[in-house]
Amino acid sequence: MGATSGIGLEVVRELARQGWLVGIAGRRDDVLRQIQAQEPQVIATRHIDVTDDDAPARLLQLIDAMGGIDLYFHSSGIGYQNTALEIDKELATIETNALGFTRMIDTVFHYLEQRPEHEGHIAVISSIARTKGLGAAPAYSATKRFVSHYMECLSQLCHIRHLSHIRLHDIRPGFVRTPLIADGNHYPLQLDPRRVARSIVRGINRRRAVITVDWRYRLLVAGWRLIPRWLWVRLPISTQPTK
Ligand SMILES: NC(=O)c1ccc[n+]([C@@H]2O[C@H](COP(=O)([O-])OP(=O)(O)OC[C@H]3O[C@@H](n4cnc5c(N)ncnc54)[C@H](OP(=O)(O)O)[C@@H]3O)[C@@H](O)[C@H]2O)c1
Repeated sequence: MGATSGIGLEVVRELARQGWLVGIAGRRDDVLRQIQAQEPQVIATRHIDVTDDDAPARLLQLIDAMGGIDLYFHSSGIGYQNTALEIDKELATIETNALGFTRMIDTVFHYLEQRPEHEGHIAVISSIARTKGLGAAPAYSATKRFVSHYMECLSQLCHIRHLSHIRLHDIRPGFVRTPLIADGNHYPLQLDPRRVARSIVRGINRRRAVITVDWRYRLLVAGWRLIPRWLWVRLPISTQPTK
């Protein structure tokens, strides 16, 4: 889900390279068709907007067209630097990254829970932006925390309900060179999307519950976690030039 560009597209290519049969979804039909034409392992496509009420039904159609599912990969997401706190941007981010995310993840979770004989993976991309509140991108940072927290909740729920056949993965990349950050701001330590996709698929194959990409960002977030709140809120962390 969210296969038409950036990390999602590279994960599709990596999975295809490893021999997976892949079904792809997003809102841009022309791009979905182009990808299918380029990748013989892509055997089905579906127009899905995760903010639409009919998105769950469309996802189940896609899964049916695939003949089942081993891995659901959720890459759909939007985000803005929004120090002006424009409400439209904040609400759109919450619609896609929190509400749309929940709509799709719960759909797949219900699908998998009804098939205990079959191991199924749910992998989602949160971000290192989930670590601490980021004043430059409030809705983005908060929704990424939501995604990450939700995955932890589902992991515990799987234990409570003995759903050991459902494997969950919370993927936390640092800055990745994709259209999401091509907004004219300066993003340091940018990662190559192809390498990120390889790390992600490796992490899923190794059944890692949390996958932070890459090692420099693992160090960075470990440092961030040590900073007390009173100090954190005073730090000028932003990718926009300060006046
Ligand atoms: N790039 C980074 O630095 C970075 C860092 C950490 C985490 N992430 C996260 O990684 C994920 C992928 O981002 P990216 O960097 O690869 O950005 P991207 O290239 O802009 O890709 C975003 C994808 O989300 C899809 N999408 C957006 N709104 C959607 C909707 N309403 N319904 C269905 N699909 C939708 C887009 O497809 P359509 O337009 O075709 O719908 C596109 O395929 C996001 O969750 C992002 O927050 C990115």
